Amino acid sequence: MEFLNKVCYVTGAGSGIGKATALAFARDGAHVVVCDINAEGASQTGKEISDMGGEVLCLPLNIARPDEVERSIQQTVERFGRLDCAANIAGIAGPVSKRIHEYPEEFWKQQIEVNLTGTWYCLKYQLAQMLVNGGGSIVNLSSAAGLIAQPENSPYAASKHGVVGLTRTAAKEYATDHIRVNAVCPTAIETPMIMEGRRKLAHNPEARQAAIDFQAMKRMGTPQEIANVILWLCSEKSSFITGVAFAADGGALA
Ligand SMILES: NC(=O)c1ccc[n+]([C@@H]2O[C@H](COP(=O)([O-])OP(=O)(O)OC[C@H]3O[C@@H](n4cnc5c(N)ncnc54)[C@H](O)[C@@H]3O)[C@@H](O)[C@H]2O)c1
Repeated sequence: MEFLNKVCYVTGAGSGIGKATALAFARDGAHVVVCDINAEGASQTGKEISDMGGEVLCLPLNIARPDEVERSIQQTVERFGRLDCAANIAGIAGPVSKRIHEYPEEFWKQQIEVNLTGTWYCLKYQLAQMLVNGGGSIVNLSSAAGLIAQPENSPYAASKHGVVGLTRTAAKEYATDHIRVNAVCPTAIETPMIMEGRRKLAHNPEARQAAIDFQAMKRMGTPQEIANVILWLCSEKSSFITGVAFAADGGALA
């Protein structure tokens, strides 16, 4: 019950890592704000939290729309009175694999808009509210592609490196306001994004094996394993940690 009665806001909570994180906060006693552009996914996560007796607010939200992000923080405060923790997990990986000279500008813009600008909007309104509260803890979902190259996916790598830069800058700017800001940088985690998205690993055994072999542990991570890191970084147990880009990678980058 590490998060008993804490107000924890999660984007991308309708699927994958975000869903596992929202459920984990609820199991640890939090009041959870479940946000996702996919309203159906969000309400399914919300139902699972209600079924376990948790307090939940479900909000359809496009993080690339500043007015929607601002409103979602207002709704959080109207319902629960404050904001203690935020996990900015929503993201997209782009639909194609191409080198830069062939990469469609349209998909570059989409990924920068959602992964980088969307995360900045979330930080902007969350930090403003945490200043009112007198503190808080924020975790941004970057990627191993925020630390090293991701060939044939330049906008993803650029946006996720940007999330690390935002995280470090926010950590310095708010360190004396009792607000910590950290990033998590996973390698391959078994979620719809990589199983059905750009690389379609569920349908391509060779690509799936390559994704598995990238980790020294020779397996992909689970959404729950990333949720565990996020909850730890949000909790008091990591009280001296801010501004880190924490690799959760099964030894890949070692
Ligand atoms: N799965 C991996 O291997 C992996 C590795 C490293 C980093 N990540 C990052 O983890 C995060 C979660 O990914 P996942 O693997 O759980 O994917 P997922 O596709 O299962 O979940 C992503 C969720 O984000 C939501 N979303 C997308 N765009 C949105 C927007 N504009 N506004 C609000 N919600 C939006 C989707 O509807 C979806 O529910 C992403 O930021 C991703 O880049 C994933």
